[in-house]
This record gives sequence, structure tokens and C-alpha cells, in this order.
Amino acid sequence: MPDASLRELDTFVNDSLALIEGLASLEDLREAEASLTGRRSPLATWQRSLGALEPDERRSAGARLQEARRTLEEALARRGEALRDVARREKLDRDALALGDVVVDQVLWPLGVGRAGLVARTQRELEDVFVAMGFQVADGPEVESDWYNFEALNIPPAHPARGMWDTFYVDLGDPETVVLRTHTSPTQIHLMEAAVANASLPIHSVMPGRCYRRDTPDARHLATFHQIEGLVVDRAISFADLAGTIETFTRAYFGADIASRLRPAYFPFTEPSAEFEITCTICRGGGCRTCSGTGWIELGGCGMLDPAVLEAVGIDGDEWSGFAFGFGIDRCAQMRHQIADMRALIDNDVRFLRQV
Ligand code: DAH
Repeated sequence: MPDASLRELDTFVNDSLALIEGLASLEDLREAEASLTGRRSPLATWQRSLGALEPDERRSAGARLQEARRTLEEALARRGEALRDVARREKLDRDALALGDVVVDQVLWPLGVGRAGLVARTQRELEDVFVAMGFQVADGPEVESDWYNFEALNIPPAHPARGMWDTFYVDLGDPETVVLRTHTSPTQIHLMEAAVANASLPIHSVMPGRCYRRDTPDARHLATFHQIEGLVVDRAISFADLAGTIETFTRAYFGADIASRLRPAYFPFTEPSAEFEITCTICRGGGCRTCSGTGWIELGGCGMLDPAVLEAVGIDGDEWSGFAFGFGIDRCAQMRHQIADMRALIDNDVRFLRQV
């Protein structure tokens, strides 16, 4: 191979190496491969011209050409690896976005966006049971004055019973104390006041809603929880009406094999008062850890309206009598679905939500 041709080969190799370094895509790389080392490349042309050389010259020129080809092929391979690396990383970035879409499409939509949570569903089911028994459903404020939450319910300031409902006090600079309601019982007062104002007695209502207490959440308590209150004000209402209502509700909601019982208790707004218990739904009455071996679980309180409450709202206790009850909606959900720890209701764990 003449010196001029060898210099040309060196220049070709150096130019080619610079070109390969600058390749920006795998497509450009494939084109460069063909034009630098393919059948129509200068290398191939030189290769073909070897035949015209003397055997010695042919051998050394052939070796130079082989070396040049290997150099270019290695450079092309290295550049190809680098370009494929970039392409892989770009694809990963694109796929990461696509994965976001997959989560929304494949995981969230099949769950049904906007589906009611267990507490909301339980509330609706409870309302249905009471509506079927002839009750109306009413609503009340969650932010109350001290008068509605306590005083009108026969719990004067500094009464020891206030300790039963440790609450969040809200300072609005108001002369009257404002609290987040600790139970749904203040809604009784609103309903009775409205019925007096509109001369629309009797009342047969249930009042579900959110309540707040300064409690530390544990397996059976939440600081924000839900109750459903019941109120009947009518003529000649007796304790038997109360017991029958509780028993009918219990069997309708929990099933025919779950019974209710009333145990004497104290609440300032009812007289006599009772705690209302149902057969433990975990052991079906046999006795287990959840019910401390008694076979019964406390659900709420109830009793005959205290004359002091009727008087506070201006209802004539000689003409009207009534009963009230109140119990936890979250507790109902826990009992009916055997939820070991009530905090599952607010954890928003998809594995829990999917089951309900
Ligand atoms: N409000 C009471 C509580 O949260 C429960 C209760 C007891 C409601 C007796 C009533 C009742 O209506 O008559 O502890």
C-alpha cells in the first residue's frame, strides 16, 4: 500500500472516530456503521484494491486495514452501548409516568371513586332501620353552645357529670362558651325547641352525626366519632316503649340471634336511665376477650326524658312524656363487621377500604 494511501487511511480512521463520538442517536449509528465499515465504505474499496498488490505488501496493507476496521468497529460498539444506555434511561423516565397512569386506571378506578366509607354506610343502614320503624331523620350543628351541649340537658356548670364528656372548648371571644359537641344529645334540645315553636309535637326522630371528645384514640375509641340519637316525645310513652324500640332495632340491625338488655345507669337528662347492651357479636354471648367474658357489649345510653329537660324547652310534662337514646355509629360498624381496632376506620388503608 503506497504511503499516500496509508496517510489517507489514517486520516479516514481519525475522522471516522471523531464522527462516531459525535453520533447522537442509534439510527445515526446504524447509518455510520454502513458508511464506515459496510460494503460500500472506503474500507471495502481499499480491501478490494489489495488484490493488485505484491504478496508482501498485500499482507502488511491487509493487516493495517484489519486494524483500522477493528478500531472503527470497537468505537462503533462503545458508542452504541452509550446511546442504548441513554435510550434505556429515557424509556425508564417515560415508563415511570406511564406507571402513574396505571395506578389511577388499574387500581383506583376499579375501586369506584366516591364510594361511601364504612361509617357513612353504617349510618345510612341505621337510618333505614329507624325509618322503617316510623322515625324521621334530623340533623343538628356540630359546634354548640354550652347551653345545648350541657345545661339544657340538665348538666349545670361544674356538675360532676361534665367529666363524662371531656370536650374541646372553642374560644370565639363569645361571652357564651362554645364547644364541639360531645354527643348528639343537644340535637334533642333543638328538635324540641322547634316543635314547641311550631306547635308540631309529637316527635319521633333519630339524629345521626359527628361528635368530638378529648379522648386519645384506642381500639374502641376515636376522638372524632359518630352517634345516632333517638327522641320520642308523645302522649303516654312508657319505659316499655323504650325497651321495645331498642330490642326491635337490635334484632333488625344485628340479626335475630343478637338480643338487647338494659342495665340501670345514670345520665343527667333521663330518669330513669339505662345503659343499653347487646349480645357480643364476636362470641355470640359465650364470653370472650372483647366482652370481658360477660357475653354483652355496651352500645349506648337511654332513658325516660327527665322533667328538667322538658321544662328547659318549655314542654308540659303533664301532657307529654318521652324517651331518648344515643349510641355510637362507629361502635355499631365495629360490632357488625368485627373490626378488632376502631382506628382502622380512619387509617384509610386501601386493604381495609377494599373489604367494605
Ligand atoms: N349522650 C350520651 C353519651 O354520649 C348517651 C345517651 C344517654 C343518650 C342517654 C341519650 C340518653 O339520649 O337518653 O354518653
